[in-house]
Amino acid sequence: MQNKWWHGKVAYQIYPKSFCDSNGDGVGDLQGIISKLDYLKALGIDILWLSPIYPSPFVDQGYDISNYVDIDPSFGTLQDFDELLAKAKERGIDIVMDLVVNHCSSEHEWFKKACADLNSEEAGYFYFIKGKDGKVPNNLRSYFGGSVWTKIPGHENEDIYYSHYFAKEQPDLNWYNPKLREQVFKLVNFWIDRGVKGFRVDAILSIVKDLSFPDLPADDTDGMCHAAKMNARNLGDIGKFLNELKAKTFTPADSFTVGEVLTVTPDSVKEFAGPDGYFSTLFDLSCRELVESHPHYRMFPTVTPDDFVKCVFDTQDLYQKVDAFVAPIIENHDEPRGVSYYLPEYLQNEHGAKTIATVLMFLRGIPFIYQGQEIGMTNTKFESIDEFNDLYAKDEYRDMIEHGFTEEQAVACCARHGRDNARTPMLWDDSPNAGFTTGKPWLRVHQDYKTLNVKSQFGVPGSTFSYYQDLIKLRKAPEYAQTMTYGTFARVNIGSGVQAYTRTALDQSQKILVIANTNQEELRYSLGDLKTANTKVLISANDAKLDADGTVVLGCGGAIVLAL
Ligand code: GLC
Repeated sequence: MQNKWWHGKVAYQIYPKSFCDSNGDGVGDLQGIISKLDYLKALGIDILWLSPIYPSPFVDQGYDISNYVDIDPSFGTLQDFDELLAKAKERGIDIVMDLVVNHCSSEHEWFKKACADLNSEEAGYFYFIKGKDGKVPNNLRSYFGGSVWTKIPGHENEDIYYSHYFAKEQPDLNWYNPKLREQVFKLVNFWIDRGVKGFRVDAILSIVKDLSFPDLPADDTDGMCHAAKMNARNLGDIGKFLNELKAKTFTPADSFTVGEVLTVTPDSVKEFAGPDGYFSTLFDLSCRELVESHPHYRMFPTVTPDDFVKCVFDTQDLYQKVDAFVAPIIENHDEPRGVSYYLPEYLQNEHGAKTIATVLMFLRGIPFIYQGQEIGMTNTKFESIDEFNDLYAKDEYRDMIEHGFTEEQAVACCARHGRDNARTPMLWDDSPNAGFTTGKPWLRVHQDYKTLNVKSQFGVPGSTFSYYQDLIKLRKAPEYAQTMTYGTFARVNIGSGVQAYTRTALDQSQKILVIANTNQEELRYSLGDLKTANTKVLISANDAKLDADGTVVLGCGGAIVLAL
């Protein structure tokens, strides 16, 4: 694999609305992020991905952009952004923006002009499609519920609709129109010219459409089919669009790009994240897909640690096979907290946070940490639907009530699966609102903020934060960095509830073994012939140890990394 500047780095996702509020309006902002750069530097972060900070009506929390070349006033100004770029750079940290170009906001001037004049240039930026047999063009269900088709504002009496795979306030952009593509390239270059080092590319599979707009077989009693199923079909045009995007923006700037791509296959992994891929890397979203291949929260399965690790390890194998580069994650702003979701109840705590962190941090690729993960944030105890903000959770709540769930059951289900779990404010200290804001936070604060916060962990040996710092240091240590980034991955089958793998230097000069135990019972694993005179423990958590006779002893949650 050719060396790239982002290889060997560790990335961190900030959800700006919930990270740090500098002006007391209850919403995080750019000055808040600037004030925490030293914190991120101390953690060991090299690349920061910011979820959208562009002007937006926030129907989908900024993933509905009304102006691609400015900053939403709630976050600050372009000057604040330049200051963030400069101050991050001083600390060796690069900024990656969220690129949301499958759709914009219905408040974007393109959409307003398009609706005002169906013959305008802007009308061609969208899918304005005639109905079929007096009904919407097809039976796709949007990601957030209801049809992907809505009548064009101002033209409600006509048989013409616009497409939106997400909320109706997020009209899909028509990538088949070269003029629209030019607009996209222009806005990407606007940020590159300002100093942005890369992009996280949102919902990108959705940009291709079957222009005959066929129905798909229904996946629920409403006769509709989730739009994601259309994305899963190979529609052929993506290569044309993404190669053009890459050539006109990312390649000349040597940008780091990470795609949000679900439903990958060996072919598509190579195509998207191989040596000549459209992107530098793709997130490993396999576990999310395992859950979200079911159309509604009420159908979501419970994921066991074995399911989680199978997804992660299968992804490792898949990417390795085609020489592609992956971005492993435990959680992001679209998922519940990994500690609460993938671990048994007895490990939904600081012990489990360390166990799962150990599994993540030595995988092949570039690990992404989501804000709060480094202190072991768990799910928030939402007690009523009014405490949620996310439109997705609200729609699923409505769906459950319609399907006979009690209010209590529906809230519990949203609390388990909801995206707001990851979106509650970052926990900085034990003061009111966890030091996130002096005002009223836009989303409720996690119940454990008095004890679970940065202040109680920063500089404290044995804390989850300190453990993350040590993991990152180890991953980047010059003597292991090559193996961690490029070394081969191989799973080691020890038994159910045990996650184990090796990383081997490409020249075979080094072998690292990672083992984590999520069972309650103690695990004793003999290294046998693997043990040499040089075998040593590089890091361990939850009292895991290596006995003199070469037996690894891991209690509940025990995790250990060995150089063999
Ligand atoms: C992506 C984002 C998610 C958003 C959706 C629509 O999946 O991560 O937060 O709701 O795209 O933009």
